Amino acid sequence: MQDVESIVERALAEFDRSGDAAQLENAKARFLGKSGELTALLKALGALAPAERRSAGALINAAKERIEAALAARRAALAGAGLEARLAEEALDVTLPGRQRGRGSIHPLIRSWQRVEAIFRSIGFDVADGPEIETDWYNFTALNNPENHPARSMQDTFYVDGRDEKDLPLLLRTHTSPMQVRYARMHSPPLKVIVPGRCYRVDSDATHSPMFHQVEGLWIDEHISFADLKGVYTDFLRRFFESDDLAVRFRPSFFPFTEPSAEIDVAFQNGPLEGKWLEISGAGQVHPDVVRNFGLDAERYIGFAFGSGIERLTMLRYGINDLRLFFDGDLRFLKQFA
Ligand code: PHE
Repeated sequence: MQDVESIVERALAEFDRSGDAAQLENAKARFLGKSGELTALLKALGALAPAERRSAGALINAAKERIEAALAARRAALAGAGLEARLAEEALDVTLPGRQRGRGSIHPLIRSWQRVEAIFRSIGFDVADGPEIETDWYNFTALNNPENHPARSMQDTFYVDGRDEKDLPLLLRTHTSPMQVRYARMHSPPLKVIVPGRCYRVDSDATHSPMFHQVEGLWIDEHISFADLKGVYTDFLRRFFESDDLAVRFRPSFFPFTEPSAEIDVAFQNGPLEGKWLEISGAGQVHPDVVRNFGLDAERYIGFAFGSGIERLTMLRYGINDLRLFFDGDLRFLKQFA
C-alpha cells in the first residue's frame, strides 16, 4: 500500500500550497471527493480478499483521517490569514491628524446687511422681509408707475410665468420699494422700517449685477420731514463707515414714488477716494399718491423713504472696485473677510 502513503504526502503538500479557500476545496476534491484518489482506493477494497480487505481498509481510513486533519488545519490557517489581511487593510491609524474642514465665513455683503440692520434697529427701526417674486402692481403701479409709463423701462425687468390673483403679471422685484406698500398695509403708523433684500434687473457690468441687494427705509408719521431723512441717513453713513469725516449731499433727482426726490451722495475726507462724490442711495419724501396706496390719509401722514445699494455700500467700505467679485465665489477674495 505504497500508494496510500504517497497520496497522503501529495494531499498534504497540495493543501500547503493552496493560497485560498477555493484552491483548498479543489485540492480536497481531488483526494477525498467522489472521484478522488483516496475514494477510488476505498471503492477498490471490495475486490480484495477478506483478510487483505481488513488491513487495507484500516490503512486507508488512517490515511483519510490524516488528510482530513490536515485539511481542517489548513482551513483554519487560511481563515485566520484572511482575517489578518482584512484587519491590516482596514487598519485605522488613530494618531493621524484629522482631515481639515475649511471654516466658512460670512460673505462681505451679508456682513454689510447685518451692520445696516444693527444700526437701524438701534434707532428704533423695525426690520422686515418681503417676496422676491412680486406683482406688477406692488412693484410699479402702487408706486405711481402707471402701466405703459416710460419710467418702467428704467428698470428693465425679468417677468416670470404665471399671474397674480388679479391676473396681473408677476416679476422679480426690481427694487425693495414694493415692500413700502406691503408693510404699510400690514401695520399702522408710525411706520418705521427697513427692508433689506435681493432685487433683479437686466443689467450686468463691473458695477451692476442682474441680482443685487438693496435696503429700503421708510419712516411715516404725522410730521416726518426731509430734515429727518438728512439726519437719520447722515448718522447711518457715519456709523456704517465708522467715520465722522465724511460729507453727505442730497442731489435733486426723480422717482415716481417720491416728491421731492434726491440722490444721496457721500464723499470721504481722506483715503483713496478722498473728495470724490459717490452715489449711494435714492431717496425722497413719499408721494401722496403712494401714501394713499398705503391706505393712509395723505393729508395727515407724511414721511420719507430711501433705497440704498448694499453692494455699493460694501464696495466703498472695503475698497472693492469690481462688483462681480462678490458673486464669483473665489476663495482668495472671500477669505479676506473671514
Ligand atoms: N427704489 C429706488 C431704486 O431702486 C430707490 C428709492 C427708494 C428711491 C426709495 C426713493 C425712495 O432706484
